[in-house]
Amino acid sequence: MNVAVTAGPTREAIDPVRFLSNRSSGRMGFAIAEAAAQRGHSVRLIAGPVTLETPKSVDRIDVESAEEMYCAVAATVPWAQVMVLAAAVADFRPAAYSPLKSSKDSTSLTLRLKPTPDILASLRHPLGFTGFLAGFAAETHDLVEHARTKLRTKNCDLIVANEVGTTGAGFDSLDNEVLLFFRCGRILPLPLAPKTSIAASLWRAIEEEIGHSPSRP
Ligand code: C5P
Repeated sequence: MNVAVTAGPTREAIDPVRFLSNRSSGRMGFAIAEAAAQRGHSVRLIAGPVTLETPKSVDRIDVESAEEMYCAVAATVPWAQVMVLAAAVADFRPAAYSPLKSSKDSTSLTLRLKPTPDILASLRHPLGFTGFLAGFAAETHDLVEHARTKLRTKNCDLIVANEVGTTGAGFDSLDNEVLLFFRCGRILPLPLAPKTSIAASLWRAIEEEIGHSPSRP
């Protein structure tokens, strides 16, 4: 299958030297891309700024901002049969970009922000993606409720939910612990394991789900 994966944070520039971003190492998304390639899928990895090596046999597109990631994902829609959006996209960007570095003379600074495009929520409409769509939900609380809401409002087939702030899992860690929420109502827990193992289990679950759904490619 043709698989697209987003990974890493995005950077929203304030001026030439400063930006807003999210905490994300990109490890989970890169592991998902690597596991997909190992399972014989054609993989396009759309990556925000991270310091990770490109997995073997993966076609990588580097982007910086949420807007750039949106454009790269939109261009991939006609090709992809499965999309896994694991990137920690910044939700807001500065309303105005200053081409000159702003001075730090003032005692306070007010930054006006505006929302970035929600890539996951745009995929069905207006982007017209009809394949299998998986998103992530990283939550500090009410994980189940938030995951179910995202599954519905962002029109996904699967939400991969993980609690952030749990010791030993998520963010910069090599390990993760997630719950898979499928559109049909099935919930599959993937207990604490290296991100590489979580990624392989995720693909087994996705392939099984697609196999069970005759309307899917
Ligand atoms: O709503 P929330 O940001 O928690 O949703 C997380 C999911 O949405 C992740 O899959 C993330 O990659 C995706 N997302 C996105 N574009 C945004 C914000 C989040 O694709 N601007």
